Amino acid sequence: MAFFKKKKEQLDISQLELPKHIGIIMDGNGRWAKKRNLPRSAGHNAGGKTFRKITRYCSDIGIKYLTVYAFSTENWKRPKAEIDALMKLFKDYLEEALKDFKDDSIVVRFIGDKTPFDDELKALMIENEEGSKDRDGMVLNIAMNYGSRDEIVRCVKNIAMGVKNNEINIDSIDEKLISDNLYTANQPDPDLIIRPSGEYRISNFLLWQSAYTEFVIMNKLWPDFDTSDLDEAIKIFNNRNRRFGGI
Ligand code: FPP
Repeated sequence: MAFFKKKKEQLDISQLELPKHIGIIMDGNGRWAKKRNLPRSAGHNAGGKTFRKITRYCSDIGIKYLTVYAFSTENWKRPKAEIDALMKLFKDYLEEALKDFKDDSIVVRFIGDKTPFDDELKALMIENEEGSKDRDGMVLNIAMNYGSRDEIVRCVKNIAMGVKNNEINIDSIDEKLISDNLYTANQPDPDLIIRPSGEYRISNFLLWQSAYTEFVIMNKLWPDFDTSDLDEAIKIFNNRNRRFGGI
């Protein structure tokens, strides 16, 4: 009897190679709300639910690192009412996350500059990091007030300071030293970055880290994004031929 090899798109994700690190640009909340004549904050609330569902799913299927883009250094340009609604949503989620992600052993980390957030939010961020740091499950990086250019500027300043103080020799500056001075130090680079909502942009997300990342753009708005869409992205990833500059 002929043996028919199953195509990768017919396989269950448990039979596929999982990306070790997935990045997600959670885009399309505003458009989702607009389509329903709802305020933008309703889109962010719906996006928050998707964030929770997809985070738990990634942890369940065995993803080791997940980085979600929640608020960029440029998002402060949005109207005050929208920023206020987002900050409230972050507080509500982070209060719940303390208990919620405990069962899944998720390690919560924030990448970005915490300084501009108010004391209550800063305290919740620190509490989540401290309270989860000894867990052994998936590392969840929540990018808040994150911008990759800002991250690189900070990295350059750190290294320049090291040189000035005779702690770093210029000849020892290499790619590893730069990676070690980013928020994602000691983590693998993302294998896969997913952007829902059909936009073909990187939007200042993990610029250094995504040198050899596979990008998957999906035509779903983030609040509509489901676990089956994540499966689909992993299948697309499995059909890519990653060469890392080789042949
Ligand atoms: C981009 O969509 C989305 C944001 C700026 C906010 C994302 C935040 C969440 C999903 C909440 C997650 C909660 C935690 C605690 C991490 P957009 O508003 O730019 O959408 P548009 O392009 O359709 O206008």
